[in-house]
Amino acid sequence: MGIVSFSPIFLLSYFSFWIQSMARRRQIYEGKAKVIFEGPEPGTLVQYFKDDATAFNNKKKGTITGKGVINNRISEFIMTRLGDIGIPTHFVRRLNMREQLIKAVEIIPLEVIVRNVAAGSISERLGLEEGTPLPRSIVEYCYKNDDLGDPFVCEEHITAFGWAAPQDLDEITSYALRINDFLTGMFISVGLKLIDFKLEFGRLWENDEMRIVLADEISPDSCRLWDVKTNEKLDKDRFRRDLGDVEEAYQEVARRLGILPESGPSDLKGPDTIQ
Ligand code: TMP
Ligand code: ASP
Repeated sequence: MGIVSFSPIFLLSYFSFWIQSMARRRQIYEGKAKVIFEGPEPGTLVQYFKDDATAFNNKKKGTITGKGVINNRISEFIMTRLGDIGIPTHFVRRLNMREQLIKAVEIIPLEVIVRNVAAGSISERLGLEEGTPLPRSIVEYCYKNDDLGDPFVCEEHITAFGWAAPQDLDEITSYALRINDFLTGMFISVGLKLIDFKLEFGRLWENDEMRIVLADEISPDSCRLWDVKTNEKLDKDRFRRDLGDVEEAYQEVARRLGILPESGPSDLKGPDTIQ
């Protein structure tokens, strides 16, 4: 066996690369499904998608193998298309299988839910059979606070407590409805019904100017998607309700959108990124 030797210059550059990548990986925040790291330049962050899944405000926990890789791709695909139709988003570019570069925004503490068909909590709250079409698309708001279990709130709470100013809330609601129109058409074209979904928005500051932008992710974690013909659920309800074939459902959504990772499902685990 030969002796391997490295020149001092090689060692120095390797060490400086290692220091730089460690610096890039300073963790800012860890959520239930994602980790946020400091970005390579000021005003940017790196959003890392985990395979961890939770439901019912963290009471149910599990892993969906490959979910992080698929959600990274699906969210990239959707945010890019929304950008194309003029919806400002935090998305900059995908970096690798599990990470995307995003703009640092101040998250508005609201979960904005758009519903087209009754399912989940609206069915329980109002006694509506799941699958009943709603008279029109309905926008709901929850206060984003895990300790309180993200309670349902109305416009009065949002503006009175200053979580968003009235004009910001109007803008958020009009973006949410435009996003609903666009995504409904996009999913129907691949045989999926968009039952409901959740959005988050943030404030982006640029030279004293503030813009509201779409943030977080849009994926089968945050949408209900049913097959148009069979009404089969192809989203996180398969995990929430122990319906089985959870990984396959996420893969099917990616496959229909034409964005399964290059080498197919075998590639879904992705590289183990050092955190
Ligand atoms: P819900 O029927 O449980 O209120 O959920 C409505 C939509 O919001 C559904 O598509 C799932 C999504 N959602 C999230 O993304 N995060 C959450 O914490 C919850 C409760 C729902
Ligand atoms: N993400 C939420 C949680 O665990 C709930 C859900 O998606 O159902 O807490």
